[in-house]
Amino acid sequence: MKAKNLWTTIILGAAALLVAAPLTMAGTAPGTGIEDTAHDFSGRNAGGVTTGKCTFCHTPHRAIQTRLLWNHTLSANTFSWSDAAETQGGTPLPTIDPSWTGPTKFCLSCHDGSVAIGDIAWFNKQTWVGNPVDNTTHGAGDPVNIGLGGDMAGNHPVAHPFPFQGSASTYNGTTTGAPALLSGWQPDPQANGIRLFHEDALGTVAAGAVVGNTGIECSSCHDPHNGAGVQDVFFLRGEIGDGPDYICTKCHNK
Ligand code: HEC
Ligand code: HEC
Ligand code: HEC
Ligand code: HEC
Repeated sequence: MKAKNLWTTIILGAAALLVAAPLTMAGTAPGTGIEDTAHDFSGRNAGGVTTGKCTFCHTPHRAIQTRLLWNHTLSANTFSWSDAAETQGGTPLPTIDPSWTGPTKFCLSCHDGSVAIGDIAWFNKQTWVGNPVDNTTHGAGDPVNIGLGGDMAGNHPVAHPFPFQGSASTYNGTTTGAPALLSGWQPDPQANGIRLFHEDALGTVAAGAVVGNTGIECSSCHDPHNGAGVQDVFFLRGEIGDGPDYICTKCHNK
């Protein structure tokens, strides 16, 4: 290789590295997985063993419950909307009590600010309940706190029925109100990358929609794992701004 070509190669190589560097560090880019996101709690010292990426939410053994192998201590709060009894469409806003099995309860185990982030059932042969792995809590006033003290006032309905295929739904003990304009919702937002839920025969929440029995949860709009369906910041399954995949019109036909 001639010297000139060698230098060209080195310079182009360095330029390529500069361009590639933000990409290889882009664990936080939408849809690229949990690594380095706000939900990556790996690397904390738990009795001399470093926690993994899943530890704060899931554990293979001695989980709080088998379903989702859930590891994070749950909030004792019962959630409800203090300033409204029903939506404009006449759907009674639900109560989310500790027995609810939908994803919202698991999100709020950290996002209502009542439980330490590292308060988990099991890791490295011991429990960390009451003795969190890393005593990071959400302070009062932290914008990430939702449903402080159990009050959901001002928040979009969750654990709430969705009128799948233009039909009223019953979910979490509440039914789409008769005055709700059913044509105001997309018939099947799953086609737009939205995650819907239903209650199975045992009353346990499971992913997927069933006519008459469909609801939305926090994870209808967010994927806590920053999975492939995430299109923008905040783990959103759509765009935060006015793009073709705007998150709100994925469900609302407006
Ligand atoms: C910040 C908390 C959090 C972390 C960290 C986390 N998960 Fe999850 N995971 C959840 C929640 C909440 C759900 C339920 C969401 C839903 O059903 O939409 C879930 C659901 C799942 C499911 C059920 C399948 C599905 O998608 O419905 C699997 C499998 C899973 N997680 C695996 C993992 C693995 C593996 C890791 C680590 C690489 C991980 N999760 C890290 C919160 C977390
Ligand atoms: C183990 C505790 C834990 C669980 C469970 C959890 N989160 Fe988080 N979440 C956090 C923490 C801590 C942050 C970062 C807070 C900060 O940056 O101050 C965060 C940040 C976020 C953010 C902002 C992301 C960003 O890029 O700024 C969103 C959105 C979010 N969580 C949604 C959810 C949803 C939805 C669920 C359930 C599906 C969930 N979280 C479950 C602890 C948790
Ligand atoms: C109907 C869709 C939708 C649902 C359901 C939803 N979110 Fe969000 N969430 C959003 C959007 C959109 C944003 C960005 C808002 C903004 O920046 O103005 C957001 C932002 C956030 C943030 C970032 C901080 C903030 O306030 O801007 C957190 C944390 C969060 N959501 C957690 C949750 C949790 C926990 C739940 C369930 C209790 C939930 N979300 C349910 C759409 C939703
Ligand atoms: C996952 C589907 C979904 C997404 C995404 C979604 N919504 Fe909703 N929205 C619903 C459902 C379901 C209801 C409750 C309808 C009812 O029963 O009255 C609702 C209700 C509402 C209401 C009426 C509240 C009331 O009291 O009547 C407004 C306003 C609203 N959403 C705005 C938004 C905005 C703004 C966004 C984007 C940030 C958004 N929604 C994203 C499904 C969604």
